[in-house]
Amino acid sequence: MKFFLDTAEIDDIRELAKSGLIDGVTTNPSLIKKSGRDFVEVIKEISDIVDGPISAETIATDTETMLKEAKKLVGISKNITIKVPMTAEGLKTCKALTDEGIMVNVTLCFSANQALLAAKAGATFISPFVGRLDDIGDDGMDLIEDIRIIYDNYGFDTQILVASIRTVEHVKRSALIGADVATVPPKIIHELYNHPLTDKGLEAFLKDWGETGQTIL
Ligand code: E4P
Repeated sequence: MKFFLDTAEIDDIRELAKSGLIDGVTTNPSLIKKSGRDFVEVIKEISDIVDGPISAETIATDTETMLKEAKKLVGISKNITIKVPMTAEGLKTCKALTDEGIMVNVTLCFSANQALLAAKAGATFISPFVGRLDDIGDDGMDLIEDIRIIYDNYGFDTQILVASIRTVEHVKRSALIGADVATVPPKIIHELYNHPLTDKGLEAFLKDWGETGQTIL
C-alpha cells in the first residue's frame, strides 16, 4: 500500500520524505488555508520534494473552468494530479483530463456507486472519505471494502485512495482490505511508529548495555 501525506505543511513533508515512506501528497482547499501559503507556490515546493503524485484541487464547479484551472495546475510540475469533486461536472472534467493522460483524483466520495461512476470516467484515484463517514455514525471502512470488491469484479484500474484518515486503525484496515493508497496526516504517520513494547524493550536494552560498560564508537 502506498502512503501519501495529507498535508500542505512543507516542513512535515520534507522531514517525512527523508524516511522514504512517502509516495505522494494530497492537498485540499482547507489544508491550503491552514498552511497560510500561496496555493501555486506551495504545490511547486511540494513537487520539488516528492516525486510521486501531488494532488492539487480545482475550485470551479463547472467543467469549462475546471479544465482551465487544471491546465494551469499541471503546468506547475510533471507529477501534479488534478483533484475534482465527485459531481457530474467533475466527472466530465475527469474524463477529458484522463483522455489527455493527466492523472485525476476524484474527491469527496461517500458511496460505492460514486466510486463506480468515477472509475467509469477513467479516474486515476478515487478518494473515499472514511473519517467523515465515521463522524455521521457509518463505518467508513465498509465503503472501502465495497469499492475494493466492485473494482476487482470489473478490473477497474482506478486506485482506491483512502482519505479522511483519523486513526492508525484506519491505516491497518486499509492495508488489510487491499486499498492502493492511504493518504495520512503527519500526526497519524508518527503514531504508526509507536508501540509501548518497542519503547519498553529499547529502554531495557539501553539499560543493560550501559551496565556492560562497553561502547561501539
Ligand atoms: C484528502 O485528499 C482529503 O481531502 C482529506 O483526507 C480530507 O480529510 P478530512 O476529512 O480530515 O478533512
